[in-house]
Formats: sequence, structure tokens, C-alpha cells
Amino acid sequence: MTESAQFPREFPSWGHEIKTYSPKRIGDGTRMQIYRSTDGKQVLRVPLYTESQLVTRTGGSGVLASEGDPSSEISNDTVSDIDRYTTAKGYVGKNTVGVLPMYFPDQNGNWRTYSLQRYVPKKMDLGELWYRGDSLSETERKRIRRMIEDIRELITETGLIFDLCGSGNTVIDDKGFPRIIDVNMIQPLIPNDEVLTQDFKDPQLEHDVIMAARLDWRGRLRKMLNPQFFSMNGLPIGDWSIRRLQEWETQLGMQTRQSTEKDELYSKYINPLRDEIINGIRNDLFPSF
Ligand SMILES: Nc1ncnc2c1ncn2[C@@H]1O[C@H](COP(=O)(O)OP(=O)(O)O)[C@@H](O)[C@H]1O
Ligand SMILES: [Mg+2]
Repeated sequence: MTESAQFPREFPSWGHEIKTYSPKRIGDGTRMQIYRSTDGKQVLRVPLYTESQLVTRTGGSGVLASEGDPSSEISNDTVSDIDRYTTAKGYVGKNTVGVLPMYFPDQNGNWRTYSLQRYVPKKMDLGELWYRGDSLSETERKRIRRMIEDIRELITETGLIFDLCGSGNTVIDDKGFPRIIDVNMIQPLIPNDEVLTQDFKDPQLEHDVIMAARLDWRGRLRKMLNPQFFSMNGLPIGDWSIRRLQEWETQLGMQTRQSTEKDELYSKYINPLRDEIINGIRNDLFPSF
């Protein structure tokens, strides 16, 4: 047995370096598996999908990770992830945890886009702000408010938003700084008037859309909505994230619920039909609500 036999097949085939990572997963996202280095300082992000699987889904960029090896073609999905990350970093750089992408074949010889990131010890998940927010200091709350302002600017100027909702994606670190850890699923937000596909823009059909959201959002609803409404993992990450941002603003006393509803930024991406769609999906995913 080789040294690397204990490592998952998705791990990079990078020889002795592999020993600096622990084969025990610390995090499990919808697209990434996260492994911590044995010194604890770094994490290795291992994508669930190989580049050739992503090429099949989103097309190939024509760029090869390894010259002359057509199997190393980088997917459009990966290229757009990296582009969006570069753009978003320009606005919220202080709060993002940088990633360094690396192309390597995995243990089966299939190319993947790995990345390295600093390990972030967390004091609180920002998803817990609504019931634990009072335990933060005023300085910490002020830092989160500033991050929210920066995210607002990112949205206003580029229409992009981070995935703010998955558990563990945004945290207050051990030093009291807000950090966006999950930087690999930045989404374009769809303005209200572009949510429905052409055939369903008729107000007479609104009821059908709402029924599809309640009964068959994985199937029939998809034909009614802009394909970008759902992210690569099949979930409405953009819509969930803008709503999360809106909640943070009210939880931190930046605005009242009523004032966010009139806010130009939120009213561009939230309306009653979208509420129905999001509620239908939520009730199916989390029936206890
Ligand atoms: N640098 C890091 N430091 C600490 N924990 C991390 C780090 N990166 C990821 N994690 C943990 O692993 C989980 C999954 O990673 P994430 O980037 O959110 O992947 P996905 O894009 O698949 O959701 C995170 O929500 C977090 O709990
Ligand atoms: Mg995540």
C-alpha cells in the first residue's frame, strides 16, 4: 500500500506533500470538501466535481491546466467562479478569506481545481446573529455593519452576491472580525423583471408559477424561471442571500424591516412573487417551518 492509500480518491496526487493534510474532513459543503492541514493553519478545499464533469455541465473554457493534455480543460464554471471572486474581492476584500486555486489531477487522474485557504477559527456563525447578536461587542457589530455596506456596494455595482446563507459560510472569527469563508459560489442576482422566462411573464400565469413552486420546484418550476435563479447546486442561493443581508440589516439596527422593504436595493430583487417561490421551496426543504 502506498502512503496515499488512506486518502480519499478526490485528493490531489501531489506526492509527499499530501502528508501535510489530515484525511479527516472538517467541512462538507454542497460543492466542497474541506480538509485541515496537520499544523492546523490551512485548509485544502477539494471540489466534489472534476473539471471534466463541470465541462459537461457548463461547457469548457478552452484553457488547459496542462499544456497538450485535453483532459485538463478548465470548465466555464471554474473560470467564472474565479472571475467573480476576483471582482468581489475588490469590494469586500477585507472580509473575504483569500483562496489560492490550484489545478491538479486527483488520485484517479482526473483534473480538479483545488484551493488552499487559511483556517478560520470561528467565534460565531453570522447565521446565528438573530439570537446571539447581543453577545457581540459594539466594535464587532460595527465591523459587520461596515461589511454589509461593502456587500451592498458590490451588489449595486456588479449585481453579484456571496453565498451568505449556508451554515459556516460567514462567521465572526476568534479575533472578532467578520469573515466570508465561502467565496466559491458568488451568484448573479436577477432583477424582479427577469425572474420569469418569456412564456410565463403573463400575470395571468402567476398562480401557475406559485403552484409549481409549492408542488414541483425541482421540475416544472425550473422551466418557468430564469435558469440563473438557481445556482450550480440547484438551490436559490442568490435569493436566499439577499434576504439574509436584509435580515442582518434589521438585526443590527441599520434599518427597520419596513425601511428595507422600500429600499431601492432590496426592492429590485425581492417582490411578492419571489416570496411565494422562496416559501414554496423552503416548505418543501424544511417542512417543520
Ligand atoms: N478556511 C476555513 N476555515 C474554517 N472552516 C472552514 C474553512 N473553509 C471551509 N470551512 C468549513 O467547511 C464548510 C464548507 O465549506 P464551503 O466553502 O462553505 O463549501 P461549499 O461551497 O461547498 O458550501 C464551511 O461552511 C465551514 O464550516
Ligand atoms: Mg458553504
